[in-house]
Amino acid sequence: MDKVVVISFGGQYAHLIARRVREAGVYSEILPYTEATPDRLRELGPSALILSGGPASVYEENAPSIDPRILELGVPVLGICYGHQLIAKLLGGVVARGKGEYGRTLVRIVSRDPVFDGWGDEEYVWMSHADYVAEVPGAEILAVSENGYVAAYRVRGRPIYGVQFHPEVRHTPKGVVLLRNFLFKVAGARATWRVEDLAQQLVEDIRRRVGPGEKVLVAVSGGVDSTVTAVLVKRAVGDRLVAVFVNHGLLREDEAEEVLRNLRRVGIEPVYIDASERFLSKLEGVEDCEERRRIIGEEFAKVFKEVVEKDPAIRWLAQGTTYPDVIESGAAAGADRIKSHHNVAALPSWLGLKVLEPLRNLYKDEVRRLGIALGIPEEVVYRHPFPGPGLAVRVIGRFTREKLEIVRRASRIVEDVLRAHGLYRSVWQAFAVVGDDKWVGVKGDRRSVGYIVTIRIVESEDAMTADWARIPHEVIDEIARRITTEIPQVTMVTYAVTTKPPATIEPC
Ligand code: XMP
Repeated sequence: MDKVVVISFGGQYAHLIARRVREAGVYSEILPYTEATPDRLRELGPSALILSGGPASVYEENAPSIDPRILELGVPVLGICYGHQLIAKLLGGVVARGKGEYGRTLVRIVSRDPVFDGWGDEEYVWMSHADYVAEVPGAEILAVSENGYVAAYRVRGRPIYGVQFHPEVRHTPKGVVLLRNFLFKVAGARATWRVEDLAQQLVEDIRRRVGPGEKVLVAVSGGVDSTVTAVLVKRAVGDRLVAVFVNHGLLREDEAEEVLRNLRRVGIEPVYIDASERFLSKLEGVEDCEERRRIIGEEFAKVFKEVVEKDPAIRWLAQGTTYPDVIESGAAAGADRIKSHHNVAALPSWLGLKVLEPLRNLYKDEVRRLGIALGIPEEVVYRHPFPGPGLAVRVIGRFTREKLEIVRRASRIVEDVLRAHGLYRSVWQAFAVVGDDKWVGVKGDRRSVGYIVTIRIVESEDAMTADWARIPHEVIDEIARRITTEIPQVTMVTYAVTTKPPATIEPC
């Protein structure tokens, strides 16, 4: 199988590149620049290398760099933005600080090359750079931007390219054409990778690692990641799968029944533990969301520990960790922790189990495709992501059961209305949030003071960035009316219109 290694220079640029390469049918992996040694690369044996963009300047002290011998491995290389500048610098060129180019920019092809097959003489691309390549020794300039900067070059006589723009973003309309040209025409890769073919391999891998008589615990939530994980484990070890579904009292309306029904549809009979009271009594009155996450994580661990202690054959924990989780936690060293998302991350150490992560190389949309290939119903596969701590992260301020019930009811209304209008699947997440602020209302002829409920509906590819969804006004109106009519304690509904960043998706 052909493989492309994307060398990452920080930020989230590398993910998008890796996704686009996989979408073209070639398997790709991200390697942080700190690990990209010539030896490691020889071991990985890629058909091509792509150097990603990144937030730094090549001439800063300690700017991220790579061993120049990587360019001598004989493997085709494409440098994008920072990668483009870094190659130029490593080959003895000059990178300087310029006026910068941001957003849609016109480039002109000045020398025809196979990477630009399918491009007109002038095309729009997406730029985001302040530094620029002032001199590329031994390279031919292939394209120039409307501001006179080098937009693309090729090192003479070698399959090494640099592009200043971002071919991986949708705002570069011909970007995918360029990436495909690089993969297939320059690197001679073959498009043979399909996530659908992976199921058998993942099942065999689990079977090989789990010893005879050993059982595998999977904490199922009803979401796509844990369901796909459980189905893979089930196929691998049959009845030695122990699927456990814990109801922490923070689920959406009717969710527990729905999850049980869906798991049974895919042949999984989970151990169902209703621990609602245990969780809710500990959360009552807690203000800080991180503290709630900690309490929930700890309580989860205790519940699972009780399960594991009763059955010594349980030796493994299979988790639905996906690729962004793996890369984010690796890359986040030293970075500010925004939220402690992985409420079950501590489970393996608590439980003393060995860990299986069959989805650790897959993106969410790939997990979904794998789910479809495994025969998991679409209703499960296309369910919106739902945080592990559930509705606890959708109550701002003091946690009370009253506010919990308000978000539970309101979220149900949001989802129902979107489904009725055929909009559910087109958005990433859609829910309601409540805090402590109050708004004066008139209900009947009486003055009443009620809660403000905020509706958050977002579009996203991987939750790392998000945009608020431009839902038709009539649909928002329907949601707002139903909430104030059906939930007596609510007098005002607002719609959240801030992207991520600067806001996060969940309120806390
Ligand atoms: P934020 O709010 O950080 O969320 O933009 C990004 C994605 O992560 C989900 N999320 C969580 N998932 N435990 C989880 O398992 C958590 O504590 C948690 N907090 C946020 C959120 O729903 C979104 O999809």
